[in-house]
Amino acid sequence: MTDTKIISVIQMKGGVGKTCCAVNLAAVLAKNFDQRVLLADFDPQTNSTLSLMHEKEWLKWDRAHGTMAEVMGMEKEKKGDKTSQNIQDYIVKGVCERIPTLDLLPSHLKMTFIDTILASQPGRERIFSRKLKKVKDQYDVIICDCPPSLMSVTQNALCASNYFMIPMQPDYLSTVGLKLVLDRIAYLKNSLQLNVKCLGVVFTRVRGYLNYHALTMEEVKNQAPFKKLHFFNTYIPENITLSEAPMQTLPINVYDSSSPGAYAFRSLAAEVAGRLSLV
Ligand SMILES: Nc1ncnc2c1ncn2[C@@H]1O[C@H](COP(=O)(O)OP(=O)(O)OP(=O)(O)O)[C@@H](O)[C@H]1O
Ligand SMILES: [Mg+2]
Repeated sequence: MTDTKIISVIQMKGGVGKTCCAVNLAAVLAKNFDQRVLLADFDPQTNSTLSLMHEKEWLKWDRAHGTMAEVMGMEKEKKGDKTSQNIQDYIVKGVCERIPTLDLLPSHLKMTFIDTILASQPGRERIFSRKLKKVKDQYDVIICDCPPSLMSVTQNALCASNYFMIPMQPDYLSTVGLKLVLDRIAYLKNSLQLNVKCLGVVFTRVRGYLNYHALTMEEVKNQAPFKKLHFFNTYIPENITLSEAPMQTLPINVYDSSSPGAYAFRSLAAEVAGRLSLV
C-alpha cells in the first residue's frame, strides 16, 4: 500500500498564489522528483485546471467524462448524461505531455453553488475522501488546490488530507489573515475530527526590492501565535514568467525551467520532499 501524502493548499485570502503553488509544486514533484502526482482542483474558478488544459480541451473532457463537480455528487447539466461512480473516470492522465506522471482532476464552474446543494446531505465533508480511496494508492502525492474560503469543497479537501500548506504574501493584512485561517482550520479539525497537520507557510509573490517584504517575513516568524509554525526557507518571488506559464497551459518547469520562478519551485519542492521523506 502506498503511503500517499495528501496536501491541501489553503488560504482564505484571494490572489495570494495558492493555484500557482499547487500547480507548480505538483509539476515539479512529478517531473523533477519522480513522484506520481494527482492535482485535484476544488476551486469553481477552475484556475488550476486551465493552467494545464486549454479551455476547449477541458470543455470536451467535461462533456465526455465530467469533473470534480460529478465526483462531489452533482448532476450533469445536460439531462440524460450518465455520471460514473468511479473517480478514476474523471481524472485526466498525463495532463502535461512532458510530465507523464502528473494527473489532473479538473474542476467546473458549476461548483460555485455546491454549498447549497450539499447543505442537507449528511457526511457532506467526506464525499471526496470516500471517493478518493479507489485511486489513492496510484499516487505518491496528491495536491488539492482550494478556493479562497473554508466552505464545503475546502472542507472536503481537508478531510482527505494529511497536511495543509498556507501560501501568504508578506504584508500586514496577510499576517492578520494567517491568524484567522489557522484559527478556522483548528476549529474544523476539532469539529470534523480531522488528522491534518500544517506542512508549512510559504511566502509568495515576494518582491526582493521591498524592504517591507523582508521585514514582514522576519517579523511574522517571531510573533507569538506563529512561533511553533513551520515557515519554508524558500520563498516564491514575484516573477512575470510564473504568470505567463498558464497562458501556454504549462507549469513553470516546462515553460521556462531557467526562470527565477522555476528555481524557487524546485527549491520549495526539495523542502517539501524532505519534510515528507518522499525521496
Ligand atoms: N509569484 C508570482 N509571480 C507573478 N505572478 C504571480 C505569482 N503568483 C501568482 N501570480 C499571478 O497572480 C494571480 C493570482 O495568483 P493565483 O491564482 O495563484 O492566486 P490564488 O491564491 O490561487 O487566487 P484565488 O484566491 O483566486 O484562488 C494569477 O494571475 C497568477 O498568475
Ligand atoms: Mg486559486
